[in-house]
Amino acid sequence: MSWWTKKKNEGKAPKASLTTVPQHVAIIMDGNGRWAQKKGMPRTYGHSVGVDRVRDAVEVCLETGVSYLTLYAFSTENWRRPQEEVNVLMRLFQEVMSRETPKLHKNQVRIKIIGLKDDLSPALVRQLEESERITAQNTRLTLNLALNYGGRSEIATAVKKIAQGVQSGTIDINAIDEEMISANIFTAGQAEPDLLIRPGGEWRISNFLVWQMAYTDFYFSELYWPEFGPKEMIKAFEWFAKRERRFGGINKGGQPG
Ligand code: FPP
Repeated sequence: MSWWTKKKNEGKAPKASLTTVPQHVAIIMDGNGRWAQKKGMPRTYGHSVGVDRVRDAVEVCLETGVSYLTLYAFSTENWRRPQEEVNVLMRLFQEVMSRETPKLHKNQVRIKIIGLKDDLSPALVRQLEESERITAQNTRLTLNLALNYGGRSEIATAVKKIAQGVQSGTIDINAIDEEMISANIFTAGQAEPDLLIRPGGEWRISNFLVWQMAYTDFYFSELYWPEFGPKEMIKAFEWFAKRERRFGGINKGGQPG
C-alpha cells in the first residue's frame, strides 16, 4: 500500500493529548536487518518494511504538528555493508523518492537531503535533487533525509568552509562562534532536535547530528524499527512531553539542569 492511501484509521495511533509537541524529531532507524533475520527473511526485507514505518512517522509528525523530522537512512559507515545490501538500499531510496515525492508535496512536506551526495550514483542524485526542487517551497514539515551522512564529517566540512573565509579575508577569526558553525552545517536555519528516537536496542548516537544534539532528549527502545509504528511514536512524544528542559539552567524549584 502506498503512502497516504491507507484506509481511514487503519493502524493509526489514538489521538494523543500532547501538552508539548517536539518541534524537531530525529530518528535512528535501527534494527531492520535483525528484525528480518529473526523472521527467517533476508535483511533487505527489513529495510522494505522500514519504509512503511517512515510513512507512519511522517503521518504522526503531520498530525501532531512537528516542524522537522530527520531520518538517518544511510551513514558514511554503512558503505562497509555487503555490496548487495548497499545496492538494494540505494535502489530503495530511489524508488521510494520517485514514488512518494508527489504525495509528500501534496501534503506540503519539504524534502531536504543532508549528507554528502558526491558518492551516490548520478541517477540517485538526480532523483534526490528533483525531490528537493519540487518540494522546496513547502513549509508544513521539513523531512531531512540523512544519506551518506556523518556528524563529524559535517562539522569538519563547516570548519573548512569557515577557514577558507578566514584565509580569503571575508571572515574575521574573532567572529567565529557557535552560531557561525550552526550556519555552516546541513541543517542551517532549522531548530535543533528536541527529541531523538532510537529503536533497535542500542544506546548510542552513532555519529548522528553530533553538533545539533547538545540539548536533545534521547528516547531508546528495544523494539526494532519495523515494529516501531504510530503508537510507539506517540508513546515517545508523550515521554518527551513529560520532560522538563532546562538547557543548563535551573528549574522552578531551583534544581540544576
Ligand atoms: C538500520 O538497520 C537501517 C538502515 C541502514 C537503513 C534504513 C533505511 C530505510 C528504512 C529506508 C528508508 C527510505 C527512505 C527513502 C527514507 P540495520 O540494517 O542496521 O539493522 P541491524 O542493526 O538489525 O543490522
